[in-house]
Amino acid sequence: MEFVNASAADNNRPIGVFDSGLGGLTVARAIATTLPHESIYYLGDTKRCPYGVRTEDEVRSFVLQAGRWLSEHNIKIMIIACNTATAAGLKVAQQVLPVPVIGVIAPGARAAINSTRTRKVGVLATPLTVRTGAYTRAIKTLDAGVSVYGCPAPSFVEIVENELATGAHLQERWLQNGDVFDTPETCEEVARTLVPLMEAGAEVDTVVLGCTHFPLLAGPIRKALGPGVRVVSSAEETTSELADILRRREQLADEDVAPQHRFATTSDNIAEFAAAGSFIFGQPLKSIEHVSLDELGRY
Ligand code: DGL
Repeated sequence: MEFVNASAADNNRPIGVFDSGLGGLTVARAIATTLPHESIYYLGDTKRCPYGVRTEDEVRSFVLQAGRWLSEHNIKIMIIACNTATAAGLKVAQQVLPVPVIGVIAPGARAAINSTRTRKVGVLATPLTVRTGAYTRAIKTLDAGVSVYGCPAPSFVEIVENELATGAHLQERWLQNGDVFDTPETCEEVARTLVPLMEAGAEVDTVVLGCTHFPLLAGPIRKALGPGVRVVSSAEETTSELADILRRREQLADEDVAPQHRFATTSDNIAEFAAAGSFIFGQPLKSIEHVSLDELGRY
């Protein structure tokens, strides 16, 4: 990666964070917590969510649109805070965008490797992420002896997005215990989805949440897996990789400048995005704009 000697103004440019909807805000929250001087420009493609049931080509084209849009909005680095978008589009985004791009799969793989003792890891992700084999490759690059059990969860993203869109009443409980979605119906659906993983991977001691929406279902997932299995996600590892890159490139923001977070969504319902987004981000989303699919399609 190229080392640059950037000016202070350049360094205060925002970090671009992209997801298919709201899930990437779990990563944005970790960034805002760990790097409190950094500004974030978040783009959620809510209108076309979920990505995980689409084709790889389609998702790749969405990643490029988002990446070009964010690049034109003066970001200094882009985080693809969506495993599905990372699996489909990280490589091409790195090849064509004018800024460095990092995804969430390599960090998620690192979190899994650091956790497992049995060297048997489950990957719970969208169907497209599982199908690409990106997690298996990333984990085996770090330790070729680890067995990886992919488990597609086709319904989880929609459960999260729908519950968040309608469930303002859940927020109080989220703040109390994090298990916002532990309704009987959700627990049943989660347990049913995990059956193949539990049957295939008897000695799995670590399950990586290979979708940035899934930390919001951590309660039901933990309940279904039982106490012997650790559940890890990529948010913290992604943030430490980001911090490392910015430090080495001498691109950390000034400590005396207040960060300015901006949010953009393709959703037609800004109020809904604001309510659900503030809840996940852990602070009010003060500046939200609508981006039409026509506009993104021009990139
Ligand atoms: N948060 C995205 C991910 O990490 C959700 C994908 C989707 O939209 O299906 O995979």
